[in-house]
Amino acid sequence: MSDTMPEVKIVIRDDASLRVDGGIPLFDHEGNEIPTPDGRPYSLCRCGQSERKPFCDGSHKTCDWDSTLAPTS
Ligand code: FES
Repeated sequence: MSDTMPEVKIVIRDDASLRVDGGIPLFDHEGNEIPTPDGRPYSLCRCGQSERKPFCDGSHKTCDWDSTLAPTS
């Protein structure tokens, strides 16, 4: 990794959200930018139960959902 480039990554958290790190901008389906915490990591819901979509609000902790990833090959 370059000294001038921040580490950019998306982590699929076990039984939880997608953790986005590195100042990645977020856009809706029409191309409108969705405000994110300036330069700080944020979490995107993947359980579908958040009241703050697309962001995680912790609802994944109380709903019954399967976070198993599809096999890759
Ligand atoms: S993943 Fe956290 S509320 Fe959906």
